[in-house]
Amino acid sequence: MKVIITGAAGFIGSNLTHHILAKRPDWSVTALDSLTYAGNLGNLSSPLAEKRIEFTKTDIVNLDALEQVFAAGKFDAVLHLAAESHVDRSLMDGAAFVKTNVLGTQNLISVSRSHGIKRFVHVSTDEVYGSLGPTGRFVETTPLDPSSPYSASKAASDLMVLAAYRSHGFPAIVTRCTNNYGAYHFPEKLIPLFISNALENKPLPVYGDGMQVRSWLYVEDHCAALLSVLEGGRFGEVYNIGGAAEAEIANLETTKAILRVLGKPETLIQYVADRPGHDRRYAIDYSKINKELGWRPTVGFEAGLKLTVDWYLKNQDWWRSIKSGEYMKYYEQQYGSKAE
Ligand code: NAD
Ligand code: TYD
Repeated sequence: MKVIITGAAGFIGSNLTHHILAKRPDWSVTALDSLTYAGNLGNLSSPLAEKRIEFTKTDIVNLDALEQVFAAGKFDAVLHLAAESHVDRSLMDGAAFVKTNVLGTQNLISVSRSHGIKRFVHVSTDEVYGSLGPTGRFVETTPLDPSSPYSASKAASDLMVLAAYRSHGFPAIVTRCTNNYGAYHFPEKLIPLFISNALENKPLPVYGDGMQVRSWLYVEDHCAALLSVLEGGRFGEVYNIGGAAEAEIANLETTKAILRVLGKPETLIQYVADRPGHDRRYAIDYSKINKELGWRPTVGFEAGLKLTVDWYLKNQDWWRSIKSGEYMKYYEQQYGSKAE
């Protein structure tokens, strides 16, 4: 099998690349990424050094460049993860989100169709469903009701993929997962930001009252789900992928858990102004993928958080080198005026 993974130098894409190389060692893997601020070839250093993958620095917004990659690659399958992925950045400026997430996905559909791709997995998010009240869970038929430019652009891309299936029989599957955490997670997102800030004895900026609930999915579990969908998912279908029930946790509890694991004081918590349009609660019903493909999350939140903290302790060069330059400009813009 010849697969191309888009967004392979990002958080989930790099974990997925490692996962596939470990679980399907006879597959040929091409990693595509345009290396935005969130892409880091260091995330793929060992497979690159061992020549176990091909890498192409390509922007999915550039149709001609994509066409050349697909003409040369003769791929069987596409795992599409390339995206602008951070809600807070989308609230500052949504244009890049529309370009990459919507137009980039349409370009990939187009070259995949013209080159006869046999299976296409589009990796999306539960954020397309909007916000839940205190009870209930998202199912695959929950109406789309996105709250941010990020989630609106992901919803649009999901619909482009599903429309291509309906119009042309495009062999595509959409997955929607909850918040991932684990190794190589860019330190703008809650868990890696708070672990690294705590290690630097910097404040942990909790938005609003910190009672927003997220359902945490350990990235290795997500990668296992994506591989099972690639191999066994039904075309034209959506599969929700969620964390364990006990991993549905309010942000303040997650923050305290991080401080506990690191042995740092709760005085590092700093309440800051809330995110506009902040979704209150996400929770996923993953019974469809469980029934059809036998997948379920296997890593509990306590164990996953411990593994994640250990990774950030052992890989301080990785995140310390990210937390400079452009990152610090973003940080100042995002948090500079937020302290209440
Ligand atoms: P990430 O921001 O860490 O990585 C995204 C990667 O895409 C980066 O390497 C970046 O360089 C690349 N990229 C961006 N624009 C590109 C373009 N125009 N052309 C080619 N490459 C481009 O994101 P992530 O957290 O790894 O998310 C991967 C996918 O999973 C995304 O589609 C995201 O919407 C989805 N997702 C993520 C989460 C999560 O918790 N992280 C949850 C649900 C869904
Ligand atoms: P984030 O990691 O940005 O993921 P998403 O917005 O996709 O869920 O945020 C997770 C939760 O943490 C979300 O409720 C927003 C909150 N949060 C904070 O309270 N402070 C922060 O500095 C960040 C980045 C997020």
